[in-house]
Amino acid sequence: MEKIAIACDHGGYELKEAIKKHFSGKFNFIDLGTNSTDSVDYPDFAQKLADSIIDGAINRGILICGTGIGISIAANRYKEIRAANCSDVTMARLTRQHNDANVLALGARIIGIEVAYDIVDVFLNTKYEGGRHNKRIEKLS
Ligand code: RB5
Repeated sequence: MEKIAIACDHGGYELKEAIKKHFSGKFNFIDLGTNSTDSVDYPDFAQKLADSIIDGAINRGILICGTGIGISIAANRYKEIRAANCSDVTMARLTRQHNDANVLALGARIIGIEVAYDIVDVFLNTKYEGGRHNKRIEKLS
């Protein structure tokens, strides 16, 4: 089973737990916290997840905060990370096909739980198209 890193701040804690449960048996989630609704700082959890990908142990991850914005901004500070904050399945499909996004960011206060499940499903099961997109991705870093 593919290892998927997952991390969140307090705003994303409940959705993180729900995603782990919903997709258990399909993916091996490596949970990097946070582990409660106590207030924490989202850059710390973006950094933990980025480090797990930079180390090479894991290829892809999911980050969750209230909006998905702060935690994706933080993750995109690392040149190895291409984090996409998606609020619908079309964004999830296209960011995999065109951007080869390796991190999905979700806003727990923005999207409903069924939409979140669909986004995760599409993100984790859509392949990068390569071709004309390669040179653009090379220019990102
Ligand atoms: C935390 O209250 C909230 O600011 C955070 O989860 C996130 O939405 C930031 O972008």
